[in-house]
Amino acid sequence: MEDKLKKLSDKEADARLGGGQDRIDKQHQKGKLTARERVHFLLDEGSFEEIGMLVTHRSTDFGMEDQIILGDGVITGYGTISERLVYVFAQDFTVFGGSLSETHAEKICKIMDLAMKNGAPVIGLNDSGGARIQEGVKSLGGYADIFYRNVMASGVVPQISAIMGPCAGGAVYSPAMTDFTIMVEHSSYMFVTGPNVVKTVTNETVTAEELGGANTHATKSGVTHFTAANDMDCIQKIKQLLSYLPQNCEDKPAKLPFEPGDESRLKLRDIVPAIANQPYDMREVISGIVDANSFFEVHQSFAENMVVGFARLGGRSIGIVGNQPISLAGVLDVDSSRKGARFVRFCDSFNIPLLVLVDVPGFLPGTDQEWNGIIVNGAKLLYAFSEATVPRITLITRKAYGGAYDVMNSKHIGADINFAWPSAEIAVMGAKGASEIIFRKEIKAAEDPAKMLAQKEQEYQEKFAHPYRATARGFIDEVIDPKNSRSKLIKAFAMLENKVAHLPHKKHGNIPL
Ligand code: HXC
Repeated sequence: MEDKLKKLSDKEADARLGGGQDRIDKQHQKGKLTARERVHFLLDEGSFEEIGMLVTHRSTDFGMEDQIILGDGVITGYGTISERLVYVFAQDFTVFGGSLSETHAEKICKIMDLAMKNGAPVIGLNDSGGARIQEGVKSLGGYADIFYRNVMASGVVPQISAIMGPCAGGAVYSPAMTDFTIMVEHSSYMFVTGPNVVKTVTNETVTAEELGGANTHATKSGVTHFTAANDMDCIQKIKQLLSYLPQNCEDKPAKLPFEPGDESRLKLRDIVPAIANQPYDMREVISGIVDANSFFEVHQSFAENMVVGFARLGGRSIGIVGNQPISLAGVLDVDSSRKGARFVRFCDSFNIPLLVLVDVPGFLPGTDQEWNGIIVNGAKLLYAFSEATVPRITLITRKAYGGAYDVMNSKHIGADINFAWPSAEIAVMGAKGASEIIFRKEIKAAEDPAKMLAQKEQEYQEKFAHPYRATARGFIDEVIDPKNSRSKLIKAFAMLENKVAHLPHKKHGNIPL
């Protein structure tokens, strides 16, 4: 027995060393933590229980039978973060470049299956050279087994992917199907085909960083939701993100203790400028409404004309979707519609109520937008709001024009409570554009067309540039003093806490993808 225990502890020590000390040193030299260090810092101290530490690959080709490393390049198991159960896998780049073999994939699948059965989030720490080249199709099959589980787990448990090293080829599709991706700056990249293939096929010269680094995916493609300065920052962001989420689709996010006090916020009165086309930062409205320092922005640098993120309001976790007047005047375009739709669907999957802040002049015109499908992409956002059954509250701060009024969580598509500030303007379009169309004849015939246009503009403005017509029809429930927004919203979300809404029976809808 003593001998067997000794043998076991030797094996454990070997497994913990992964590819060996020199390879660990190399990982550190690149500014990266090892897989084991990442798991250590991610989970509550002493909570990690490893599964499959002594698993080895079964490959016999290319001399692989002589290269057995315990654990086979991935650490898998479960533990807690802030005392909540999570499942984790961390690819170990020191072992065959973290490449994915058949058994490596089996280990990941095992914890994904456990996560789904037990209703807890899965966190993947990716750092891998891709499919284990020596294993051929077996490793491709392993990827597909993971992809399939990503889809099965989607909407059941939150799935978070940290990209902490290479992630290339078909391997990118697992993170892409999880709910959130966080990329570490300068040490991670994601692409389907790397710079060499790009050069051969398109003759473009591009570095790995330019093609698929954290900054590229945060700003241009939107593939990553967050970037992190380094591994520790990445781990910190995973923990912060999790704090807003429930464990699974049957659960609600944790509510922090909250003692109501004086919830009026005078500064909210001064944010919207008196001049209608002057910009302001919707983040100022958000920070004036939500609990102090609780806003956690998602997709911060992508499609900046829309702001989305998590926050707490009276201790409750909420998702916020807002137009952003400081970028493109807050118009809806292809990217912002996609960004908003994805976020709304995530919140709806995991019982996170939605607050929608509206200041939108409409959809962005132009051939670029039309040819890139603003029709189907705008429809995504409309569809996502319409099918969301979580509590949904809208606050119109200024413009709500045209189709964008309908799309941005209007009463007509199922919002529960719709507020407006007195500065709200709800109309088919802005006063100038509207007057030019409907008073064209009068303006043309006038002695002084410019004066006539100004007069008609003023007329239109007085009729529609306020929220009271919409309120009289019940499309807006109440026009509120901005300073009372926080208290009104806290009460309304509390009132909606036990909302039950069912969609008509169907296999699944057909969102315009
Ligand atoms: C087996 C691999 C490997 C792989 C790396 N290694 N990738 N072993 N299969 N896919 C091994 C290397 O041989 C090396 O072993 C060790 O890991 C470290 O790799 P280095 O090249 O020394 O590291 P670095 O210089 O940092 O370069 C990292 C890298 C490079 C850019 C990832 O290793 C690389 O280009 N690897 C191949 C990437 C690739 O083409 N993968 C297949 C993609 S297709 P030694 O013993 O020498 O230290 C794919 C399809 C998925 O993944 C499809 C899903 C549907």
